[in-house]
Amino acid sequence: MNSSSFASTYRNRSAWILLHCTALNSHPLLSTLIQKATKSGAWSAISTPSACATLLRMNNLLRRLKFNFSYLTNKAPWDSGITPPELYDFMAAHPAGRALDIGCGTGTNLISLANAGWQVEGFDFASRAVSIAKQKLRKAGINANVFTDDATKMNQVTPPFDLALDLGCFHGIENKADYLTQLTRVLTPGGYWLIYGFFKSDPLLSGPGLVNSDLDLIQRHNLTLISRKDGWDKRERPSAWFLWQLSNK
Ligand SMILES: C[S@@+](CC[C@H](N)C(=O)[O-])C[C@H]1O[C@@H](n2cnc3c(N)ncnc32)[C@H](O)[C@@H]1O
Repeated sequence: MNSSSFASTYRNRSAWILLHCTALNSHPLLSTLIQKATKSGAWSAISTPSACATLLRMNNLLRRLKFNFSYLTNKAPWDSGITPPELYDFMAAHPAGRALDIGCGTGTNLISLANAGWQVEGFDFASRAVSIAKQKLRKAGINANVFTDDATKMNQVTPPFDLALDLGCFHGIENKADYLTQLTRVLTPGGYWLIYGFFKSDPLLSGPGLVNSDLDLIQRHNLTLISRKDGWDKRERPSAWFLWQLSNK
């Protein structure tokens, strides 16, 4: 993404992100000032590409801290230790190969994949989750490469993969285009991306959640929708399972 389109995409959202960050840090005065600046149009003038990029980095850092805190305090409600039936269905219908778990959390699905004969690799940006995953894998006698990395960079990932799994990570990523660029780099042609995410109640709201335009963005990255199963998550938000396949070209 070039810096001016980056700026225009994130100009409005960056104000929301900053509001979100300041709300988290309880700075009501700063938050009021930003609201005023946004209303008066002054925000547009000061939200340069580098300011937007800095805000995105700040937001990512805060998200990482929040996830680490959840794992440290054992308050990670998604971390049920149970592999969902949709992953078992995928494994039953496809031969084992190499799988990458993006945002692997504490490694539950890495263990299930390895037990079904897959060679697994996984990463998470929350280092606390990674250390728990390593312990669990060691206890289960599974030899797997698990490390701390960011889904928008995938610096340490060793492609190619027949399956990339993403349960609850992609929907929270701000810079989804960077994630998709990395995903298509590490997937083998014809490889699958199995993903679960929830949708935003309002596409204009900041914060995690898919919006319909994300599905167009995915398709523009050479991925074809194979199946989709809609439902509701535990908090009554619309959610869906998607299976995408990277083009063979
Ligand atoms: C809802 S949890 C799901 C964890 C795991 N997939 C599971 O099903 O238990 C989302 C995970 O994605 C990780 N995550 C979020 N953003 C990430 C990023 N940019 N790069 C790597 N991991 C990320 C979080 O730390 C968290 O562990």
